[in-house]
Amino acid sequence: MLKEWLRDASYPVVFTGAGMSTESGLPDFRSANQGLWQKKDPSKIASTDALNNNVHEFIAFYRERVLGVKEYHPHNGHLILADWEKRGIIQSIITQNVDGFHQLAGSKRVAELHGTLQKLHCQSCGKVYDSKEYIKKEYHCSCGGILRPSIVLFGETLPEDAFQLALEEAERADLFIVLGSSLSVTPANQFPLIAKESGAKLVIVNQEKTALDYAADEVIRDRKIGKLLEELDGAP
Ligand code: NAD
Ligand code: APR
Repeated sequence: MLKEWLRDASYPVVFTGAGMSTESGLPDFRSANQGLWQKKDPSKIASTDALNNNVHEFIAFYRERVLGVKEYHPHNGHLILADWEKRGIIQSIITQNVDGFHQLAGSKRVAELHGTLQKLHCQSCGKVYDSKEYIKKEYHCSCGGILRPSIVLFGETLPEDAFQLALEEAERADLFIVLGSSLSVTPANQFPLIAKESGAKLVIVNQEKTALDYAADEVIRDRKIGKLLEELDGAP
């Protein structure tokens, strides 16, 4: 049904999670075989507590993540979504991902709920740097403060502008397509429900069960995201 709904909808919005980028080579968090959180406790590494009290391990973990987002690239699925925005097939993307791959692929209307690993900022003065500083093992600002990734850590609130854009888009959507998220983290996982309550059809594309499958009008579990987007793109 997704192909027909995509053709007939007037305001389709796409919502992506880490599963959107596994075909680029980035690990996701919770899938059974490769999820990052199968090996590490997020509260011990992806939190403000870790940044303040365990800064060496925090920086080592995020330097690895920064190497990933600099070494890997958007795959064809990201490029298709960017092309669909240009052609008016979709209106916007709400993403939990911090890899910046939607923008690198050419998508313009992107709400980055959890910030971006493409940037760092100083803990003390807020000055912004490209995250390649971590690759060069530069961890301090010119003011002497510590440089941290510009992502939302557990325990932090989400960026207001991205949150507001996501809220407006979820409320306007008449078709809301989730691609590659377990929908297990609040407040991000509220947007599919907001769209549904505003009258949108909800489609969830995910290789494993998600927390909101019960609310979906269609669940697609038998195709990887990249393959599905190519099939839909090729469709007349
Ligand atoms: P993150 O920014 O991706 O996630 C931080 C999490 O904290 C977010 O999910 C955010 O919603 C959550 N959060 C914020 N406030 C909250 C609250 N009040 N209650 C509950 N949750 C709240 O960074 P991370 O969690 O540290 O992820 C680990 C690393 O894995 C990331 O640095 C990322 O680069 C990497 N990774 C990225 C991708 C990708 O971007 N495609 C995929 C897999 C892994
Ligand atoms: N095709 C379809 N589904 C896929 C694919 C794929 N190619 N690759 C992975 N998946 C599915 C996995 O089965 C998994 O259920 O994508 C889902 C990704 O879910 P999570 O790993 O939980 O990632 P996400 O939902 O984005 O996590 C939310 O938690 O710690 C934070 O920063 C993290 O922003 C992230 C948030």
